[in-house]
Amino acid sequence: MTASDVRVIGVVGLGGMGSGIAQLAIEAGYETVAREVTGELGETARGRIAHYLQRKVDKGRLEAGERDAALALLSLTTSVGDLATCDLVVEAITEELDSKHALFAELEGIVRAEAVLATNTSALSVTEIAAAVSTPERVVGMHFFNPAPLMPLVEIIRAELSSDAAVETAYQVGERLGKRPIRCHDTPGFVVNRVLIPLLNDCLRVLDEARVSPEDLDTAMTAGAGWPMGPCALVDLVGIDVHVHASEALYEKLREPRMAPPPRIVAMKNAGLLGRKSGRGFYVYDD
Ligand SMILES: NC(=O)c1ccc[n+]([C@@H]2O[C@H](COP(=O)([O-])OP(=O)(O)OC[C@H]3O[C@@H](n4cnc5c(N)ncnc54)[C@H](O)[C@@H]3O)[C@@H](O)[C@H]2O)c1
Repeated sequence: MTASDVRVIGVVGLGGMGSGIAQLAIEAGYETVAREVTGELGETARGRIAHYLQRKVDKGRLEAGERDAALALLSLTTSVGDLATCDLVVEAITEELDSKHALFAELEGIVRAEAVLATNTSALSVTEIAAAVSTPERVVGMHFFNPAPLMPLVEIIRAELSSDAAVETAYQVGERLGKRPIRCHDTPGFVVNRVLIPLLNDCLRVLDEARVSPEDLDTAMTAGAGWPMGPCALVDLVGIDVHVHASEALYEKLREPRMAPPPRIVAMKNAGLLGRKSGRGFYVYDD
């Protein structure tokens, strides 16, 4: 299987990430079969995708005809069996190893032997997920960033037993989806989170160490280090709970103190100050 053989893409799990990946696939012209656990969740995702495509039409970045053609490429299902025609399946279900193992074992019996199976996991090991199947050479990571339609990067992750062909197919499909893929091996946090999570935690510790305000810390890093967004604004955008969870996952694997979430943001998470999505984090949001 090479990237030029890929005609049908499967997406499993249509939450925040999966619906963004399905949107990328239909915009790139792939027939896309998307599986959720209920028809209602599938329809909610289809509505979200249609909403984002309409926004592109309103901004003059997409023709109405292109929107309709893209939406016509999306078929929803609740049955894993309907993924049989897929050449590449991207799994974006809940971040639980047991659920991913059950899904990959089921997929293996359904899709053709040459089809590539990709996981969008952030914090689990791709190699460990691949252990659920008897053909681990076709399993790779395709780690998109949130929101997938807007963030340019996709990390293509080689697990211990991934074949060169599966890695290259995923890489080239990533390019065809309009992303900037990079190749890396299966290590905790892969590349971006391995670097960014401890770095953000350092920033948050400096709040207390230097007794600097969130506003001034953000100014320091945008005006002094050229960051496009300050660390407090970034953690608010990502979600305090998501950042705490990602820090804990990385710390659990690598045990470097900088990876552990600082007590200050654990307290914020416990108080329900989750950032933009809850209306309050380091900043207050009225919209
Ligand atoms: N949120 C992020 O910033 C982000 C970024 C990169 C990667 N990821 C990873 O992407 C994956 C999904 O994350 P998310 O934020 O979209 O989660 P989410 O909770 O928004 O969505 C998960 C969806 O999967 C569905 N689902 C669960 N089991 C299923 C199954 N067996 N078959 C079909 N659908 C199933 C759920 O109904 C839900 O809609 C996780 O592995 C996560 O680690 C998340």
